[in-house]
Amino acid sequence: MAKPSSDRPLRPATLLVRGGQMRSNYDETAETLYLTSGFVYDSARQAEQTFTGEVTHFQYSRFGNPTVQMLESRIAALEGAEACRATPTGMAAVHGALLSHLKAGDRVVAARALFGSCHWIISTLLPRYGIETEFVDGADLEQWKAAFRRPCQLVLLETPSNPMLELVDLKAVCDMAHEAGAIVVVDNVFATPLLQKPMKFGADVVVYSATKHFDGQGRVLGGAVLGSKKWVEEVLQPFLRNTGAAISPFNAWVILKGLETLHLRVHAMCRSAAAIAQMLEERAEIARVFYPYLASHPQYALAKQQMSAGGTLVSFALKGGKEAAFRFMDALRVIDISNNLGDSKSLITHPATTTHMRVAAEERARLGITDGALRLSVGLEDVEDLVEDIAAALDAVAGNPAPRRKPLAKLVAEEAAAPVKSAPVKPAPVKAAAAKAPKAAAPKPAAPPATAAKPARRKAAEPDLFPEPAPRRKR
Ligand SMILES: Cc1ncc(COP(=O)(O)O)c(C=O)c1O
Repeated sequence: MAKPSSDRPLRPATLLVRGGQMRSNYDETAETLYLTSGFVYDSARQAEQTFTGEVTHFQYSRFGNPTVQMLESRIAALEGAEACRATPTGMAAVHGALLSHLKAGDRVVAARALFGSCHWIISTLLPRYGIETEFVDGADLEQWKAAFRRPCQLVLLETPSNPMLELVDLKAVCDMAHEAGAIVVVDNVFATPLLQKPMKFGADVVVYSATKHFDGQGRVLGGAVLGSKKWVEEVLQPFLRNTGAAISPFNAWVILKGLETLHLRVHAMCRSAAAIAQMLEERAEIARVFYPYLASHPQYALAKQQMSAGGTLVSFALKGGKEAAFRFMDALRVIDISNNLGDSKSLITHPATTTHMRVAAEERARLGITDGALRLSVGLEDVEDLVEDIAAALDAVAGNPAPRRKPLAKLVAEEAAAPVKSAPVKPAPVKAAAAKAPKAAAPKPAAPPATAAKPARRKAAEPDLFPEPAPRRKR
């Protein structure tokens, strides 16, 4: 990357576009996709020197690859970390960070509110290898304090947590953990490096699912582990290299290009999420809304201290339990049902029956994952369309006729095949701010209303997408 003219550090939006780029001799504009499994050497001597470490040369894409290295450098620059290793998935990042550091006889303390697979690693996998594990309520500093009375080698936590957006006081827990001799690993997926920098509060290692906001367009899986140069090179890298957790250069390239718009996407999604959280708070069908930047969040003050915005996810609990939750989800037209998050498309999840299904019912209850709880990942659609979609689905829960679920993609296809109205009907404006959200918007009709008198065929109304080419000028 070209050096800035002064020593002033570059801002996140610039780092996301320029960080880590290594141009080849061809001076290409975009980052190059080095889709190769291996590399060749000029001589046997160079191969030998590469393996002894006397010469720096790519060897094999399981160990390192130029496209992957560009991704790692870009993520490290954004996080402000000394080093980064990209992994094929977020779970490979969590697993790699933990297993590379731990050995039989060690002890791990983790916040109870973890993503389902992370919870499984702590509760089921690590004990199989003679590692003692203990869960604490992440929000309760007294429980952390009690857990650190005994020696501990590693702490794992998520803040905000998946799915109920509970926070952990990063500074307080990191201080206590370090005194007990532990390193702190923070899964920062929900906050993204743009909204929260765990290392600023003392975290030693930060992990990401790059599948989420980094790609953020539903295309590829990926992950990242960040830490000090020493820890990454001496502890993490030998584990990843020898156990095979290598990301495909193609996926790394897609994520690199995804990062270029991370800043724009995350901030737009946060604005919509905040508006939706406020709108949900006003609805009678909802028992509780969880969003870190809502004044009603029990850790609102902490959210303001360690996050620069409330995030792209909103969780809420419907009053009618699983039946109401399913009815709500099935009535949504724009928002898709999916267990993914951090995507440009808004996605709704019922954690109790999907992402957290394998967490014991008792534990789910402790985490507040009730049968009525839903997690909404807010995307990049027009916030007014999202507010209308949610309002209509809540009306369906309240007893108004529940429209049969018809995802937007199908509606769009139907719309394309249907006759168009002769004059476009302007929908009534809906304010993004919650207070002004429609209280009882009717479900959207699937087809144009019957008032479309004497419809013109769509063909006539459409612009000509394939005009005759203009005659070529003679040279
Ligand atoms: C908080 C959190 N951590 C880790 C993961 C795992 O990421 P991946 O699916 O890329 O393995 C997820 C996935 O949803 C997650 O939400």
